[in-house]
Amino acid sequence: MSLYTPVLEQHLSYFEKQFPTVFTALLEDNNLIDAMRYACEGGGKRLRPVLLMECCRASGGDPKTAFPLAAALELIHSYSLVHDDMPCMDNSPLRRGKPSVHAAFGETLALLTGDALLNLAFETALSCQNFSADTSLLATRILADCAGVHGMIGGQLIDLESEEKRIDLPTLKRLQERKTAALLVAACKIGATLGGGSAEQIEKAGLFGYYIGLSFQIIDDILDVTATAEALGKPVGSDAQNEKNTYVSLLGIEKARELAEEYTKEAISALSVFGEKGDDLRHLTEALLNRTH
Ligand code: IPE
Ligand code: IPE
Ligand code: MG
Ligand code: MG
Ligand code: MG
Repeated sequence: MSLYTPVLEQHLSYFEKQFPTVFTALLEDNNLIDAMRYACEGGGKRLRPVLLMECCRASGGDPKTAFPLAAALELIHSYSLVHDDMPCMDNSPLRRGKPSVHAAFGETLALLTGDALLNLAFETALSCQNFSADTSLLATRILADCAGVHGMIGGQLIDLESEEKRIDLPTLKRLQERKTAALLVAACKIGATLGGGSAEQIEKAGLFGYYIGLSFQIIDDILDVTATAEALGKPVGSDAQNEKNTYVSLLGIEKARELAEEYTKEAISALSVFGEKGDDLRHLTEALLNRTH
């Protein structure tokens, strides 16, 4: 089952075509800019931008107009991966099938690359002129909230502080809600906001993002045990090596998978607010459960 339907493939190809333009505003030509491009080049699924654009479409908007916010979100996701791979965090030499940024460019540049991508994300979001100033600000605010201390960064903190300790299930859920689900909530809420969705659609889009986010991280934890590095483009066995708390380490693969299935059902039920316009998101949600990378 392929991840993306033809409609979602269209978002993906539009995104891939436009994404390099985000870097053309950077006038310098140096190692930092090379590393920033390297961190964002192909190999990723582009799940967050595709979700953002599709939630925009499902809410009645033109997905192409959402590109600047989709790019901003992918920039933040990419920066989070650059830092996540560094020796002070997960110490991972491989990402998206290539040496990680710190392995290719050194740690100093990896640190600055992450910083610079985060900055570029907000420059990109704030340069968007496709919506009213109020709508753009609201969307950018959601992005900042979900990426920050109460979102992705806060989750990374719990993840790292819990290494070599055993945490309980509620703490693990809080960890994964933040480190992973928060950016998927951002994708879906921002998309619905830009698409002009109703308050209920925006809220349900956020709920949808939350549940696919929880399911997505459980599958990521399972793939770390069951997949190959070739398929994933990143090392396997790294969670056990780092003594991470994951649903696999706490519950075992089978129970973890059951939980991912439960969250998938919750995600699909949140989509009812979009009626038939939620069909492509429904397909994606089911396909994510069976993804191989
Ligand atoms: C990896 O995210 C980090 C997690 C939150 C599990 P993805 O699996 O979306 O990574 P790419 O963008 O496809 O490389
Ligand atoms: C990372 O989770 C989530 C981020 C915020 C980057 P993981 O550490 O499990 O992601 P991978 O397995 O390295 O992609
Ligand atoms: Mg990590
Ligand atoms: Mg990692
Ligand atoms: Mg992982």
